[in-house]
Amino acid sequence: MADFSADNSEKAIGVFDSGLGGLTCVAELMKLMPSENIIYFGDTARVPYGTRSRETILEYARQDVNFIKSHDVKMIIAACGTVSSVVGKQKDFAGDIPFTGVVIPAVQAACAATKNGRIGVIGTAATIRSGAYGKAIRNIRQDAVVIGNACTMFVPMVENGITDPSDIVVKAMTERYLKPIKDENVDVLILGCTHYPILYDAIAEYMGEGVKLISSGAEAAKYTMNMLASRNMLSAREESGKVSYFTSDSKELFETNAHAFIGNKLMGEVTQISIDDISQK
Ligand code: DGL
Repeated sequence: MADFSADNSEKAIGVFDSGLGGLTCVAELMKLMPSENIIYFGDTARVPYGTRSRETILEYARQDVNFIKSHDVKMIIAACGTVSSVVGKQKDFAGDIPFTGVVIPAVQAACAATKNGRIGVIGTAATIRSGAYGKAIRNIRQDAVVIGNACTMFVPMVENGITDPSDIVVKAMTERYLKPIKDENVDVLILGCTHYPILYDAIAEYMGEGVKLISSGAEAAKYTMNMLASRNMLSAREESGKVSYFTSDSKELFETNAHAFIGNKLMGEVTQISIDDISQK
């Protein structure tokens, strides 16, 4: 078994997602740990995962992990609410490489933040169907009331740039998906999909000031920093880290669409890879 200790500290952090949403996690990693090297894979040719079956999501996730592992990383983050929910607590999902999804980090933050024990969770259909967030919340806090809702139109809205809080589609969809949660007087809402922070303003406006929003990708980045620090695996590099992006669809589309998720902070080479290459591994 490999020794994932301080000796591996200069290796990159591997991050993958079904598409571009995981870049919200990368943005936070870059902010928290600017000297770390990062390898990102976005499976843009096969996004969305959230509407697919558990079996297909697991198969894709295994291929994504194998691709990331071919880059000799020190830690792997599934920066995708759907993959994280379906993989569940399989700690060895990435073999002997330290691995985290976004569920546990987000749930820990939500349980620490709630005062009334009423927590909302929004995610893709596969995420909500898995019940993963609810189970993880009740492991920490048995008496918690969890209200979940699948927001199936949020991902296509974000992908198509329909995110302005004053847009009538955004207003209608936030009300449709969030009213049942707001009506239950939650004081914390987990954005259980890494696309949803792009709708942060619209969601925050609808939920009101008394509701704290938890971004699952950002929490996974903080969790990773703590995990690496506790294992003495943070990079000692003094200069800025290098971020390398891989996409299974067009490099140009990745570069154009990434801006919504990471602003002008892409700062790294984008390489297109073939799905056939990863699916044969
Ligand atoms: N990345 C997915 C998630 O965080 C959303 C997009 C998809 O359905 O694949 O759940």
